[in-house]
Amino acid sequence: MIESLLQERRTFPPPESFARAAHIPSAEAAAALRREAETDPDGFWLRQAAQLVWRRPPTRALDASCYPFVRWFDDGELNLTESCLDRHLHTPRRNQAALLWEGEPGDTRVLTYQQLHREVCRTANVLKSLGVRCGDRVVLYMPMVPELVVAVLACARLGATHSVIFGGFSAEAIRDRILDAGATCVITADGGWRRGKIVPLKQNVDAALRHCPQVRAVLVVTRTGESVPMTPGRDHFYADLVRGQSAVCPAVPVPAEHPLFILYTSGTTGKPKGVVHSTGGYGTQVALTTRWVFDLRDGDTYWCTADIGWITGHSYVLYGPLLCGGTTLLYEGAPDTPDKDRFWDIVARWGVTILYTAPTAIRAFMRWGDAYPARHDLSSLRLLGTVGEPINPAAWTWYHEVIGGGRCPIVDTWWQTETGAILAAPLPGATPTKPGSCTHPLPGVALEVVRKDGTRCNDNEGGYLVALRPWPAQLRTVWGDPDRYRQQYFSDIQVDGRPVYFTGDGARRDEDGYLWVMGRVDDVLNVAGHRIGTAEVESALVSHPDVAEAAVVGRPDELKGQAIVAFVTLRAGRTPGPEMQAQLKQHVVHEIGALARPEEIRFTEALPKTRSGKIMRRLLRELAAGGKVQGDVTTLEDLSVLQRLATSADEE
Ligand code: WTA
Repeated sequence: MIESLLQERRTFPPPESFARAAHIPSAEAAAALRREAETDPDGFWLRQAAQLVWRRPPTRALDASCYPFVRWFDDGELNLTESCLDRHLHTPRRNQAALLWEGEPGDTRVLTYQQLHREVCRTANVLKSLGVRCGDRVVLYMPMVPELVVAVLACARLGATHSVIFGGFSAEAIRDRILDAGATCVITADGGWRRGKIVPLKQNVDAALRHCPQVRAVLVVTRTGESVPMTPGRDHFYADLVRGQSAVCPAVPVPAEHPLFILYTSGTTGKPKGVVHSTGGYGTQVALTTRWVFDLRDGDTYWCTADIGWITGHSYVLYGPLLCGGTTLLYEGAPDTPDKDRFWDIVARWGVTILYTAPTAIRAFMRWGDAYPARHDLSSLRLLGTVGEPINPAAWTWYHEVIGGGRCPIVDTWWQTETGAILAAPLPGATPTKPGSCTHPLPGVALEVVRKDGTRCNDNEGGYLVALRPWPAQLRTVWGDPDRYRQQYFSDIQVDGRPVYFTGDGARRDEDGYLWVMGRVDDVLNVAGHRIGTAEVESALVSHPDVAEAAVVGRPDELKGQAIVAFVTLRAGRTPGPEMQAQLKQHVVHEIGALARPEEIRFTEALPKTRSGKIMRRLLRELAAGGKVQGDVTTLEDLSVLQRLATSADEE
């Protein structure tokens, strides 16, 4: 305890040489920005929006007349691909690399801005030929290949709303998302490479589409060259259709509020939530944060290791760097293929200057040992970033010393699928950092730590992290379910009698005003940086014919942050045991994907419930963590359940 306190007290001022050249070079510059954003928020955000290319520039910033439903830059019109691509074509940037790509087998490709623009136009023309129009939804289920970036931007070029599904989700999960989004077109690949094996993407799409009659067209990118079954009339090879397409495709201007994309994420119910992001507000804040937080500039080789299937990939692999005219690196595969130094090999060979990754990855690298990074010259790095979960001081220190050579600032960025862009992070040329703290909300952002009753917490008092004011990149709604948007985010906490956005996270501010995010306080787990709802895993488990009831909780895990533990009651006459455990784990993989596979399954005759029938997860969490139940159990309906659960745990 004392040790951790000591560690938390360390502060790291921005290195002078870094600050001198930074976009925001000093604490004074940062304070001036904060003042500007506080005194004239509308003017501030309109000036930021003006950094994008608009067909019709907006004259208004926030419209909160239907709060909590908000609109930003409402009377503006744009096509975001013009800000990502077209504007660079008349400058020397056209011959700069937009994308650097490395496949897992070691093949590489580089696309300049000019080349990327042409590919996007040709692909947009392909989509048009398949009947995709402005407002249609297109689902992408692809490996991390250049064609994924091209396909995302081709959708945006036409005003079609893209929905990327992470390649680790199963056919069942794809089906649910396609149906919920009402998608009519799917873009996939024959497969992708992961640890030397082929991920059968097309096969999963085929299984999903058995239940999605509204999907008219499937575009299949060739990646592995494996033969895949093609359904005549519906499935087309991308290479066949793109051949002969014109490299000119006018961008379709859309209103600022037009949905750029839907991204499904986990919530507190079993049904995945389609988080809807706008075009103008999202683009504005993502571009801005890329410049501010990553200090991106010409000459940088920027590598965010996230998959484009997650929000981090959307905002900081794809849109952010391209909106800033940067060079973004994509890597297709696993960090330990062919060996555990793959990341460092990539950093050295491409001369990566900015590296953005997750604490769970950093902890794995730490465990693998210093010898792997030591094989490579990492001196090109100038800035490091983390995202996805709180970073423990030991991992922070290792990252700082072993990877950053002690010279690179670390930006610990707090944000969510719903926030679209980073909301809290250091400004690397201006903010002294403390290991494990995401420091302060960015200028223009109003995050606060409050009690359940909406009053502000004292210094170092843990509370709920809320946003007091809307921000441009915030989600606009839950696709097809505006009630869920209001209910999920705006019904828990009121400040001064007004509902505020609740993040689902617990946090505290220290005596210096630094923000320490402690993790989720709702029933959402963070497993290896992936968000997984306990309710989703539960509903997958109870869909198994042998399961009567299930409760899923997280157990602290050194490497993954949290591990999934499921308490399962079987139907009468079914036999618990290792075989059943294996079967149920496989069932969850089948229903959701390998990322949701429970680490442990415990069988129990009954689950601890309150008199009103609510499962007492707190007790299960305590049991799962290996401890005895210590908290208050007076609301428990049947005390003997606890006794029996504890005994069954002891027997394992
Ligand atoms: C957690 C990922 C502490 C948090 C961009 C949040 C973090 C959830 C941090 C969102 C951080 C993300 N420090 N916790 N720097 N960044 N989180 O939607 O619990 O996949 O609510 O978005 O990750 O996860 P999501």
